Amino acid sequence: MKDRRKFLKNAGSTALFASLGSSFFISCDDASDDASPNPPDNNVPEEGYSVDGNVYTIYLTHSSFSNLQSAGGWKRFDEGAMLLVNVGQNIIRAFSNACPHQGCKTSWSYSNEKFNCGCHGAIFDNSGNIITGPGGTGDLTSHNAVLKDNVLTVTK
Ligand code: FES
Repeated sequence: MKDRRKFLKNAGSTALFASLGSSFFISCDDASDDASPNPPDNNVPEEGYSVDGNVYTIYLTHSSFSNLQSAGGWKRFDEGAMLLVNVGQNIIRAFSNACPHQGCKTSWSYSNEKFNCGCHGAIFDNSGNIITGPGGTGDLTSHNAVLKDNVLTVTK
């Protein structure tokens, strides 16, 4: 008798759960139609940036530029012919990617707050000033860069 009561009690719980579970899943399905968990940001171009004349608008929320959100993050942005670096305190600097020595554009690395041109070893600080390099090498050419709400505007 005791086993029979236990069986009926468990069977009732299962039936109730199945009933509620079914309603619950229907409710969840209905809710997912109303709001996507990751709505697309229609303002961000597919490439993560746009160009209007000499003005580049760069979206740091885009995966191609997202590492610029952190201090020390940098990017060789070849499409814009520039080097970008986050120097901290929400400041991003932009420079021409043409090395002032002989114009190499694609051999850059960045570490310890310094740019290094791999072509002949010129080194620049994160303000673009030459630290060391072949004789006569000047500073990097800097561009005006303004960061606001994860949108970087660079004017060449
Ligand atoms: Fe960069 Fe020579 S071109 S060091």
